[in-house]
Amino acid sequence: MGETSRFDPRLLVCERSGGLWLHELGTSRASGLIEHEKHRKNRDMSDFAERLIAWQRKNGRHDLPWQGGHDPYRIWLSEIMLQQTQVDTVIPYYQRFVERFPDLDRLAAAPVEDVMALWSGLGYYARARNLHRAAQRIIESHGGSFPRSAVDIATLPGIGRSTAAAIAAFAFGERAAILDGNVKRVLCRIFGVEGFPGEKRVENQLWALAESLLPAREVGRYIQAQMDLGATLCTRGKPACARCPFFDDCVARRDDRQGELPTARPKRAVPRRSARFAVIMREGTVLLERRPPVGIWGGLLALPEIPGTIADTLADVSAWTAECFGVDCVESSALTPVTHTFTHFVLEIQPVLLNTAAATHGLVAENGALQWLALSVLEGAALPTPVRKILEALATPTPFSD
Ligand code: ADE
Repeated sequence: MGETSRFDPRLLVCERSGGLWLHELGTSRASGLIEHEKHRKNRDMSDFAERLIAWQRKNGRHDLPWQGGHDPYRIWLSEIMLQQTQVDTVIPYYQRFVERFPDLDRLAAAPVEDVMALWSGLGYYARARNLHRAAQRIIESHGGSFPRSAVDIATLPGIGRSTAAAIAAFAFGERAAILDGNVKRVLCRIFGVEGFPGEKRVENQLWALAESLLPAREVGRYIQAQMDLGATLCTRGKPACARCPFFDDCVARRDDRQGELPTARPKRAVPRRSARFAVIMREGTVLLERRPPVGIWGGLLALPEIPGTIADTLADVSAWTAECFGVDCVESSALTPVTHTFTHFVLEIQPVLLNTAAATHGLVAENGALQWLALSVLEGAALPTPVRKILEALATPTPFSD
């Protein structure tokens, strides 16, 4: 059989010898066999986008709070919040955020601490810092108008190629391909793309495939359809293949390989770190320090970490608190440990409750970096999730305490 284009004139995805081949852009070389069907011919997939759009119209999500408009600010905010975070978790954060910062000007003018406080609990805090920085950049360098092309949008802090494409497609109707985690999974399964999608070679193949599949019209709906299929049917565990519009075409479904595609990241041990956090209490308030703007929990209020050089005795810990914070501790006890998983390591936290002497009122410096926070006002504070967990447990009386 001759070589025929399935999707577009750039010959990115081609049929040859009964299999689907992916070609490198601008070359005549096939860079990898996507799928070789020995016994049965694939159904024609040239209507992939059309079928997906029809499925979205009937079965997709249409009532999410950021849908229905074309305001690039709101679309951008939702896309940033939805990176690495589920829709159900994002909704209340999104609503509070747009209520407090209804437009770009108000976000850019706000202190970064206020932005961080609204983001508290959502995780991946670099997203909030970048959002704030990008808002200021748009005001300063783009005259306050949101850039209109995916290429320009991708120059802003915290916006990668896929997010930029989603914003440009939703807000301005640009014909731009996305490739987030959900779309990678959908494409790997349906087209039988082998190899870990985080690997550059595989990622390049997937970008080429995603671009070759773009429809000429209704790009926004098509992109939403890809997201919806990945989030509601083609899920990581237990995909609902029986309801999928590509049931008959999907390579993973046909070969019963939904658990194997996409190919998992090659295994490496996740490092574990342990840390002791000091919960220094004074009359219902706890001592918190603001983390430096960069690094883990940058800009958030965290519990001071007891250095590894300080022994686990009350005398040693109290000498440390006296030196660093000007407070003497008269009692110490270990609280329930908390484990927190970051992208690259697991942190095992041992919180140590330290009650200060009744007469203690001094602090070396109560300034922007150090502050006493009442346990009764945790809700609005910019706290990382494990710190919030530790303090909420402390603020909540146990059933048997009086
Ligand atoms: N995930 C990323 N972007 C999304 C969107 N616009 N709607 C639903 N889920 C998403």
